[in-house]
Amino acid sequence: MENKNNHREIGRRRFLQTGAKVTASAMLVGLSTPRLTSATKPDNKILPKIESITLNNGVKMPMLGFGTYSLRGEDCRKYVAQAISHGYRLIDTATVYGNEEFVGAGIKDSGINRKELFITSKVWVDDSGIEKAKKAFQTSLDKLGTDYLDLYLIHRPRGDVKGSWQAMEELYRAGKIKAIGLSNFEPHQLDELLKYATVEPTVNQIESHAFFQQNAANENLRKHNIRMEAWAPFAEGRNGLFCNPTLEEIGRQYNKTNAQVSLRWHYQRGVVAIPRTSKKYHMMENLEIFDFALSDADMEKIGTLDLNITHFPEWE
Ligand SMILES: NC(=O)c1ccc[n+]([C@@H]2O[C@H](COP(=O)([O-])OP(=O)(O)OC[C@H]3O[C@@H](n4cnc5c(N)ncnc54)[C@H](OP(=O)(O)O)[C@@H]3O)[C@@H](O)[C@H]2O)c1
Repeated sequence: MENKNNHREIGRRRFLQTGAKVTASAMLVGLSTPRLTSATKPDNKILPKIESITLNNGVKMPMLGFGTYSLRGEDCRKYVAQAISHGYRLIDTATVYGNEEFVGAGIKDSGINRKELFITSKVWVDDSGIEKAKKAFQTSLDKLGTDYLDLYLIHRPRGDVKGSWQAMEELYRAGKIKAIGLSNFEPHQLDELLKYATVEPTVNQIESHAFFQQNAANENLRKHNIRMEAWAPFAEGRNGLFCNPTLEEIGRQYNKTNAQVSLRWHYQRGVVAIPRTSKKYHMMENLEIFDFALSDADMEKIGTLDLNITHFPEWE
């Protein structure tokens, strides 16, 4: 534990030291700097701009969001409000996280206009099937304090997937969900769903990080024009991601931390990432990825870290 904390502290100090040097590094890659300055001073209310992509149904989705898995109660509420105040607009939750009402309270506390946010939730396995999924969706809306979701996903391909998808298509057509999608679907499970889907899935949210990159899955999703979204973009720090020497070596060139290099790598491969943190300085650090670019050689080096194996076998 002490060791882990030391690494985080080193990362934090490096990030703070980086502030002074970052202007030069941004100039090196020919990018403007105001965003950097603003993100390191959240109190001045000039927020960093998070780039968006357009999903296959025309809906715009931020490329970087805020994950809320394991954030609980009033802490969750506080972190969500802080994340929004620092510039995050995509908030990712799920029925099974048991925190939707606190996510909703945090959103309310933030005072931000609902239209500026991109809220994702997910229907859990126990709620699969037409009627149950519709009921679960309404419960999510009530807890989140909103009358629509930007993205609603089938959390896992288990139970009555066909019934859940039908419910989601109906809710989508009724305008209650802006985009519908999947999570943890493998290619053959996606193929199965595509046989009966009358609305194309927009997103598949799957585990992806430097050690389990999911290149084949990404390629397959691209073929179907479905956007890959990475859960556990840092592998939750497993396998020493935050002190991985290859990521450190790459980060040194740009004065960036392993977390920032990881998020930039996701971004450059067109993958939406939703890192979670309970630390304000990590919220800021994780936003500072649009002011530098990894070279092709760096991208290839990160490619060599792929072990092509899940780092969450407990969830299989
Ligand atoms: N669809 C699914 O089945 C599924 C499964 C898992 C997760 N998800 C979603 O994906 C989100 C992200 O995944 P995750 O929460 O499992 O893990 P993650 O984002 O990969 O990692 C979270 C961990 O990274 C640390 N961290 C964050 N920023 C850091 C930084 N800049 N430097 C050092 N440490 C940093 C956090 O600690 P601190 O709090 O100390 O910063 C936390 O321990 C979830 O929150 C959830 O919304 C979806």
